[in-house]
Amino acid sequence: MNNKIYTKITTHSLQEMKRNGEKIAMLTAYDYSFAKLIDNASIDIILVGDSASNVMAGHETTLPITLDEMIYHAKSVVKGSNRCLVVVDLPFGSYQGNSKNALESAIRIMKESGAHAVKLEGGSEVEDSIKRIIESGVPVMGHLGLTPQSIYKFGTYTVRAKQSEEIKKLKNDIKKLEKAGCFAVVLEKIPAKLAKELTESVKIPIIGIGAGSDVDGQVLVMHDMLGMNMKFNPRFLRRYSNLSEIIDEAVKKYIVDVKNNSFPNKDEEYN
Ligand code: KIV
Repeated sequence: MNNKIYTKITTHSLQEMKRNGEKIAMLTAYDYSFAKLIDNASIDIILVGDSASNVMAGHETTLPITLDEMIYHAKSVVKGSNRCLVVVDLPFGSYQGNSKNALESAIRIMKESGAHAVKLEGGSEVEDSIKRIIESGVPVMGHLGLTPQSIYKFGTYTVRAKQSEEIKKLKNDIKKLEKAGCFAVVLEKIPAKLAKELTESVKIPIIGIGAGSDVDGQVLVMHDMLGMNMKFNPRFLRRYSNLSEIIDEAVKKYIVDVKNNSFPNKDEEYN
């Protein structure tokens, strides 16, 4: 693997990576400290995902998180990032109504957080909004397949695009997003074979989550891949750490030390 060294990732670097066959690595983050760690490790894209609604705020779905809350998370992530591209999710209700509303929401995110791009869910239904945001100079990442903001329409988080109607719409939508000017698209939870076909059908990078390996890059929710939530076990998830156990062990040791009065010791006090 002889990849080009990028000192700063832009939407253009991502297109170049696709052309050169270099895979794109993307993770979510929602705060300054984790963003700094992930950026230092050379992640290509940090997504300030509306999954913050689940992993930061404890909501069951991504629907309740507000635009103000997303901007708060995005500001913190931007402060902790240097090399990576920071993309921020437009939350549910901030862009579906009409394209003027969508543009206003995107501009607030860009102006108030300092992020580099926005992401929004959907295909032809949000095409006008995507075009209007891009016309204003804001890069847009699309999101197709399983779109969690529509969970009450789908009724379940199972794999999408198994039936011919949905496959047809997906093929149509990905072309529409490319034509509208999206710089990349996330494909969530669709059959790997279809994801490969869709990836080969467009020039823009396709980032998969539960979409197999024949896409241009991968994204995972940071809390899931670090093993902070052992109850979430989808097939596509690979855990790279076991932070929930590590944290549990550390906190229990601290409690014992405090109860035993063995913390702090003489070296840990001021004279
Ligand atoms: O909000 C999020 O974390 C996402 C990823 C799962 C792609 O949209």
